[in-house]
Amino acid sequence: RSSGKMGYAVAIAARDAGAEVTLVSAPSELPTPAGVTRIDVETAAQMHAAVLSACETADALIMAAAVADFRPETTSSQKIKKETATLTLPLARTADILKDVAARFPQLVKIGFAAESERLLSHARAKLDGKKLDVIVANDITAAGSGFGVDTNQVTLLHRDGRVDALPLLSKAEVAEHIIAVVRDLLGEKRHTD
Ligand code: CTP
Repeated sequence: RSSGKMGYAVAIAARDAGAEVTLVSAPSELPTPAGVTRIDVETAAQMHAAVLSACETADALIMAAAVADFRPETTSSQKIKKETATLTLPLARTADILKDVAARFPQLVKIGFAAESERLLSHARAKLDGKKLDVIVANDITAAGSGFGVDTNQVTLLHRDGRVDALPLLSKAEVAEHIIAVVRDLLGEKRHTD
């Protein structure tokens, strides 16, 4: 289960750094940070549409959401009765939001998260390449004090140029500040080369 704490911390850090922030959020008990435009979504498809639309006018996307990879293929408008002994629900893949953003907005600074329970760095590196990101924040969700629900996180930042930054166990607010500092550097570099 995802609490939204990491994403909200990133929104706050970006706001504090002077950015105009749009926070696309799945249901969360967290309060909307002051000065941030929050767009509420409930499904992966709604998140896909909201993120792609916000990217039209954005300089950077930081994608901390734990998006469902599968959805039920069909929905029932009637109650499903229990006569049959077992029930199998066919699932269909949801669209990969980051991949679609990378295809549509190649110039946008893109930072993803990789929640892993094994082979952290190799799986994260594969996502960095596959989703065409600038940086991926790799997160061992089995480590104590890391991952879902808690206020702390221990992450490793993998950069497209091969740099690897292993951060110590920090509060999610501190992790968010690191990420925003990286975004600021990347935006500076892009402006410089444009
Ligand atoms: N992500 C996305 N759209 C999806 C699934 C994931 O944009 N449908 C993003 C997440 O927000 C995150 C990154 O892709 O920034 C990696 O998500 P993760 O759940 O770790 O990996 P998956 O790509 O879903 O791969 P797998 O579940 O096989 O590990």
